[in-house]
Amino acid sequence: MLSLAPLHEDFGARVTGIDLTKPLSSQQVEALHDAIDTYSVLHFPDQAMTDEAQLALTRSLGEPEPEHVHFGKTGQVAYFGTIGNVVDAETKRDGDHPHSVSQRGNNMWHSDSSFRLVPSYVSILHAYEVPGEGGETEFVSQRAAYARLDPAEQAEIDGLHVLHDYVFSRTKVAPVDPNHAASLPPIEQRLVRRNPANGLKNYYVGSHARSIIGWSGVDSRRLIDRLNEAAARPEDVYSHRFTEGDTLFWDNRCVLHRGAGYDANRWRRYMRQTRVAGHGPTLDEPSVVA
Ligand code: OGA
Ligand code: MN
Repeated sequence: MLSLAPLHEDFGARVTGIDLTKPLSSQQVEALHDAIDTYSVLHFPDQAMTDEAQLALTRSLGEPEPEHVHFGKTGQVAYFGTIGNVVDAETKRDGDHPHSVSQRGNNMWHSDSSFRLVPSYVSILHAYEVPGEGGETEFVSQRAAYARLDPAEQAEIDGLHVLHDYVFSRTKVAPVDPNHAASLPPIEQRLVRRNPANGLKNYYVGSHARSIIGWSGVDSRRLIDRLNEAAARPEDVYSHRFTEGDTLFWDNRCVLHRGAGYDANRWRRYMRQTRVAGHGPTLDEPSVVA
Protein backbone atom coordinates (compact mmCIF):
# COMPACT_ATOMS: atom_id res chain seq x y z
CA MET A 1 0.00 0.00 0.00
CA LEU A 2 1.02 3.65 0.19
CA SER A 3 4.31 4.43 1.83
CA LEU A 4 4.64 8.06 3.03
CA ALA A 5 7.74 10.08 3.98
CA PRO A 6 7.39 13.70 5.20
CA LEU A 7 8.63 16.61 3.02
CA HIS A 8 8.41 19.46 5.57
CA GLU A 9 7.64 19.54 9.28
CA ASP A 10 4.24 21.17 8.67
CA PHE A 11 2.94 19.27 5.64
CA GLY A 12 3.80 17.25 2.54
CA ALA A 13 4.74 13.62 1.87
CA ARG A 14 6.66 11.66 -0.73
CA VAL A 15 4.49 8.73 -1.71
CA THR A 16 5.69 5.41 -3.08
CA GLY A 17 3.96 2.07 -3.49
CA ILE A 18 1.36 3.17 -6.02
CA ASP A 19 1.25 3.36 -9.83
CA LEU A 20 -1.03 6.32 -10.59
CA THR A 21 -1.20 5.39 -14.28
CA LYS A 22 -3.11 2.14 -13.61
CA PRO A 23 -6.80 1.88 -12.65
CA LEU A 24 -7.05 2.40 -8.87
CA SER A 25 -8.98 0.22 -6.43
CA SER A 26 -11.51 1.88 -4.12
CA GLN A 27 -9.09 1.22 -1.23
CA GLN A 28 -6.32 3.05 -3.10
CA VAL A 29 -8.63 5.98 -3.88
CA GLU A 30 -9.64 6.19 -0.23
CA ALA A 31 -5.98 6.08 0.85
CA LEU A 32 -5.20 8.96 -1.54
CA HIS A 33 -8.05 11.10 -0.19
CA ASP A 34 -6.84 10.36 3.37
CA ALA A 35 -3.27 11.31 2.45
CA ILE A 36 -4.52 14.55 0.86
CA ASP A 37 -6.50 15.38 4.03
CA THR A 38 -3.48 14.71 6.23
CA TYR A 39 -0.45 15.88 4.23
CA SER A 40 -1.86 18.53 1.79
CA VAL A 41 0.99 18.06 -0.75
CA LEU A 42 1.89 14.65 -2.20
CA HIS A 43 4.90 13.87 -4.38
CA PHE A 44 4.81 10.66 -6.42
CA PRO A 45 8.18 10.03 -8.12
CA ASP A 46 8.70 7.96 -11.28
CA GLN A 47 5.19 7.90 -12.71
CA ALA A 48 5.00 6.90 -16.41
CA MET A 49 2.16 9.39 -16.93
CA THR A 50 0.23 10.16 -20.11
CA ASP A 51 -2.64 12.64 -20.60
CA GLU A 52 -5.06 9.74 -20.86
CA ALA A 53 -3.88 8.20 -17.59
CA GLN A 54 -3.91 11.63 -15.89
CA LEU A 55 -7.51 12.28 -16.88
CA ALA A 56 -8.53 8.82 -15.63
CA LEU A 57 -6.67 9.51 -12.35
CA THR A 58 -8.41 12.89 -12.04
CA ARG A 59 -11.83 11.27 -12.56
CA SER A 60 -11.05 8.61 -9.97
CA LEU A 61 -10.65 11.39 -7.36
CA GLY A 62 -13.79 13.34 -8.32
CA GLU A 63 -15.14 15.66 -10.97
CA PRO A 64 -12.52 17.12 -13.35
CA GLU A 65 -12.60 20.92 -13.39
CA PRO A 66 -12.75 22.67 -16.80
CA GLU A 67 -9.59 24.69 -17.39
CA HIS A 68 -10.76 28.28 -16.95
CA VAL A 69 -8.53 30.13 -19.44
CA HIS A 70 -9.61 28.09 -22.45
CA PHE A 71 -13.21 27.99 -21.21
CA GLY A 72 -13.29 31.73 -20.58
CA LYS A 73 -11.84 32.64 -23.97
CA THR A 74 -13.76 30.13 -26.12
CA GLY A 75 -16.63 28.66 -24.10
CA GLN A 76 -15.23 25.16 -24.74
CA VAL A 77 -14.51 22.68 -21.99
CA ALA A 78 -11.00 21.24 -21.82
CA TYR A 79 -9.50 19.62 -18.75
CA PHE A 80 -5.76 20.21 -19.19
CA GLY A 81 -3.67 23.25 -18.59
CA THR A 82 -0.06 23.38 -19.75
CA ILE A 83 2.45 24.88 -17.33
CA GLY A 84 5.65 26.08 -18.98
CA ASN A 85 6.86 27.35 -22.33
CA VAL A 86 6.82 24.29 -24.60
CA VAL A 87 4.80 24.37 -27.83
CA ASP A 88 6.10 21.16 -29.42
CA ALA A 89 9.30 19.10 -29.69
CA GLU A 90 11.12 21.90 -31.58
CA THR A 91 9.42 25.07 -30.37
CA LYS A 92 9.26 26.94 -27.10
CA ARG A 93 8.11 30.42 -26.12
CA ASP A 94 10.68 32.87 -24.83
CA GLY A 95 10.26 34.84 -21.62
CA ASP A 96 8.77 37.93 -23.26
CA HIS A 97 6.08 35.99 -25.16
CA PRO A 98 2.62 37.09 -23.85
CA HIS A 99 1.91 33.51 -22.77
CA SER A 100 5.09 33.43 -20.67
CA VAL A 101 4.28 36.85 -19.20
CA SER A 102 0.77 35.80 -18.16
CA GLN A 103 2.08 32.51 -16.71
CA ARG A 104 4.27 34.58 -14.40
CA GLY A 105 1.00 35.43 -12.61
CA ASN A 106 1.51 31.93 -11.13
CA ASN A 107 4.62 33.25 -9.39
CA MET A 108 2.38 34.99 -6.81
CA TRP A 109 1.19 32.79 -3.92
CA HIS A 110 -2.23 31.43 -4.85
CA SER A 111 -4.75 28.64 -4.51
CA ASP A 112 -5.92 27.33 -7.88
CA SER A 113 -9.37 28.60 -8.87
CA SER A 114 -10.08 30.23 -5.49
CA PHE A 115 -11.89 32.78 -7.71
CA ARG A 116 -14.50 30.25 -8.86
CA LEU A 117 -17.87 29.63 -7.22
CA VAL A 118 -16.82 26.00 -6.75
CA PRO A 119 -13.08 26.23 -6.22
CA SER A 120 -10.66 23.38 -6.79
CA TYR A 121 -10.19 20.53 -4.34
CA VAL A 122 -6.90 19.17 -5.67
CA SER A 123 -4.52 20.05 -8.51
CA ILE A 124 -2.56 17.28 -10.22
CA LEU A 125 0.64 18.33 -11.99
CA HIS A 126 2.88 16.00 -13.95
CA ALA A 127 6.39 17.03 -15.05
CA TYR A 128 7.56 16.01 -18.55
CA GLU A 129 10.41 18.49 -19.11
CA VAL A 130 12.13 20.49 -16.39
CA PRO A 131 14.62 23.37 -16.53
CA GLY A 132 18.22 22.64 -15.53
CA GLU A 133 18.01 25.66 -13.25
CA GLY A 134 14.96 27.20 -11.51
CA GLY A 135 11.39 26.14 -12.23
CA GLU A 136 10.62 24.89 -8.72
CA THR A 137 7.05 25.05 -7.43
CA GLU A 138 6.84 26.29 -3.83
CA PHE A 139 4.18 25.42 -1.26
CA VAL A 140 3.03 26.73 2.13
CA SER A 141 0.30 25.54 4.48
CA GLN A 142 -2.50 27.90 5.51
CA ARG A 143 -3.49 25.19 8.04
CA ALA A 144 -0.16 25.47 9.83
CA ALA A 145 -0.38 29.28 9.52
CA TYR A 146 -3.85 29.35 11.07
CA ALA A 147 -2.60 27.16 13.94
CA ARG A 148 0.21 29.69 14.57
CA LEU A 149 -2.27 32.55 15.14
CA ASP A 150 -3.21 33.22 18.73
CA PRO A 151 -6.80 32.36 19.76
CA ALA A 152 -7.91 36.02 19.67
CA GLU A 153 -6.65 36.39 16.08
CA GLN A 154 -8.37 33.16 15.10
CA ALA A 155 -11.64 34.35 16.62
CA GLU A 156 -11.30 37.70 14.81
CA ILE A 157 -11.13 36.05 11.38
CA ASP A 158 -13.26 32.89 11.79
CA GLY A 159 -16.53 34.39 10.55
CA LEU A 160 -15.22 36.68 7.81
CA HIS A 161 -15.94 36.41 4.08
CA VAL A 162 -13.51 37.38 1.32
CA LEU A 163 -13.96 38.42 -2.28
CA HIS A 164 -11.64 36.50 -4.62
CA ASP A 165 -11.08 38.07 -8.03
CA TYR A 166 -8.91 36.73 -10.85
CA VAL A 167 -8.93 40.03 -12.77
CA PHE A 168 -7.79 41.90 -9.64
CA SER A 169 -4.79 39.61 -9.17
CA ARG A 170 -3.75 38.85 -12.72
CA THR A 171 -3.95 42.34 -14.21
CA LYS A 172 -0.94 43.04 -11.97
CA VAL A 173 1.17 41.03 -14.44
CA ALA A 174 -0.71 40.98 -17.77
CA PRO A 175 -3.97 42.08 -19.37
CA VAL A 176 -6.83 39.55 -19.05
CA ASP A 177 -8.76 38.69 -22.22
CA PRO A 178 -12.22 40.38 -22.05
CA ASN A 179 -14.17 37.13 -22.59
CA HIS A 180 -12.08 35.43 -19.94
CA ALA A 181 -12.60 38.35 -17.53
CA ALA A 182 -16.36 38.30 -18.19
CA SER A 183 -16.47 34.60 -17.32
CA LEU A 184 -14.94 35.18 -13.88
CA PRO A 185 -16.92 37.68 -11.77
CA PRO A 186 -15.55 38.17 -8.21
CA ILE A 187 -16.72 35.40 -5.85
CA GLU A 188 -17.36 35.52 -2.10
CA GLN A 189 -15.61 32.77 -0.12
CA ARG A 190 -15.23 31.87 3.54
CA LEU A 191 -11.97 33.17 5.00
CA VAL A 192 -11.67 30.20 7.34
CA ARG A 193 -12.46 26.64 6.21
CA ARG A 194 -12.52 23.35 8.08
CA ASN A 195 -11.38 20.03 6.66
CA PRO A 196 -14.49 17.82 6.83
CA ALA A 197 -12.49 14.62 7.55
CA ASN A 198 -10.17 15.73 10.37
CA GLY A 199 -11.78 18.97 11.56
CA LEU A 200 -8.59 21.03 11.15
CA LYS A 201 -9.11 24.69 10.27
CA ASN A 202 -7.17 26.87 7.86
CA TYR A 203 -7.44 30.30 6.40
CA TYR A 204 -7.92 30.67 2.67
CA VAL A 205 -6.38 33.71 0.99
CA GLY A 206 -3.61 34.03 -1.63
CA SER A 207 -3.19 36.54 -4.45
CA HIS A 208 -6.78 36.30 -5.71
CA ALA A 209 -8.14 37.42 -2.31
CA ARG A 210 -9.13 41.05 -2.92
CA SER A 211 -11.10 42.38 0.02
CA ILE A 212 -12.99 41.43 3.17
CA ILE A 213 -16.77 41.72 2.81
CA GLY A 214 -17.94 44.81 4.74
CA TRP A 215 -14.45 46.17 5.36
CA SER A 216 -12.71 49.18 3.82
CA GLY A 217 -10.10 48.61 1.15
CA VAL A 218 -7.33 49.75 3.50
CA ASP A 219 -8.36 47.44 6.33
CA SER A 220 -8.97 44.59 3.90
CA ARG A 221 -5.52 44.83 2.39
CA ARG A 222 -3.86 45.11 5.79
CA LEU A 223 -5.46 41.85 6.98
CA ILE A 224 -5.11 39.88 3.72
CA ASP A 225 -1.49 40.95 3.23
CA ARG A 226 -0.71 40.07 6.86
CA LEU A 227 -2.26 36.59 6.48
CA ASN A 228 -0.46 35.93 3.19
CA GLU A 229 2.86 37.02 4.68
CA ALA A 230 2.34 35.00 7.87
CA ALA A 231 1.74 31.84 5.81
CA ALA A 232 4.82 32.26 3.66
CA ARG A 233 7.82 32.99 5.86
CA PRO A 234 10.94 31.37 4.35
CA GLU A 235 10.97 28.55 6.93
CA ASP A 236 7.35 27.66 6.08
CA VAL A 237 8.10 26.91 2.42
CA TYR A 238 8.51 23.50 0.84
CA SER A 239 10.18 24.08 -2.54
CA HIS A 240 9.70 21.24 -4.98
CA ARG A 241 12.53 20.78 -7.47
CA PHE A 242 10.95 18.66 -10.22
CA THR A 243 12.43 15.59 -11.79
CA GLU A 244 10.89 14.30 -15.02
CA GLY A 245 8.27 11.72 -14.09
CA ASP A 246 7.16 13.49 -10.91
CA THR A 247 3.45 13.76 -10.26
CA LEU A 248 2.35 16.23 -7.57
CA PHE A 249 -1.02 16.58 -5.87
CA TRP A 250 -1.85 19.58 -3.72
CA ASP A 251 -4.91 20.40 -1.65
CA ASN A 252 -6.11 23.81 -2.85
CA ARG A 253 -8.51 24.03 0.08
CA CYS A 254 -5.59 24.71 2.43
CA VAL A 255 -2.24 25.25 0.68
CA LEU A 256 -0.84 28.12 -1.35
CA HIS A 257 1.69 27.58 -4.11
CA ARG A 258 3.71 29.65 -6.55
CA GLY A 259 6.22 29.18 -9.34
CA ALA A 260 9.79 30.14 -8.39
CA GLY A 261 10.48 31.30 -11.97
CA TYR A 262 13.04 30.18 -14.56
CA ASP A 263 14.81 31.52 -17.64
CA ALA A 264 12.36 30.69 -20.44
CA ASN A 265 14.86 31.96 -23.04
CA ARG A 266 17.26 29.25 -21.99
CA TRP A 267 15.20 26.25 -20.79
CA ARG A 268 12.22 24.17 -21.81
CA ARG A 269 9.58 23.46 -19.14
CA TYR A 270 6.59 21.24 -19.86
CA MET A 271 4.09 20.14 -17.25
CA ARG A 272 0.46 19.11 -17.58
CA GLN A 273 -2.14 20.03 -15.02
CA THR A 274 -5.62 18.80 -14.21
CA ARG A 275 -7.81 19.69 -11.24
CA VAL A 276 -10.47 17.95 -9.25
CA ALA A 277 -13.40 20.28 -8.49
CA GLY A 278 -14.40 20.98 -4.90
CA HIS A 279 -17.68 19.75 -3.48
CA GLY A 280 -19.50 23.09 -3.70
CA PRO A 281 -19.31 26.81 -2.92
CA THR A 282 -17.32 27.53 0.25
CA LEU A 283 -20.29 29.48 1.63
CA ASP A 284 -22.21 26.17 1.65
CA GLU A 285 -19.59 24.63 3.95
CA PRO A 286 -20.56 24.59 7.64
CA SER A 287 -19.58 27.76 9.52
CA VAL A 288 -16.41 27.38 11.59
CA VAL A 289 -17.57 29.93 14.18
CA ALA A 290 -18.02 28.15 17.51
C1 OGA B 1 0.17 25.54 -11.12
C2 OGA B 1 1.08 26.65 -10.83
C3 OGA B 1 3.33 27.45 -10.93
C4 OGA B 1 4.65 26.99 -11.45
O1 OGA B 1 0.64 24.51 -11.66
O2 OGA B 1 -1.03 25.67 -10.79
O3 OGA B 1 0.64 27.66 -10.35
O4 OGA B 1 5.23 27.73 -12.26
N1 OGA B 1 2.38 26.45 -11.11
O5 OGA B 1 5.08 25.90 -11.08
MN1 MN C 1 -1.46 27.37 -9.74
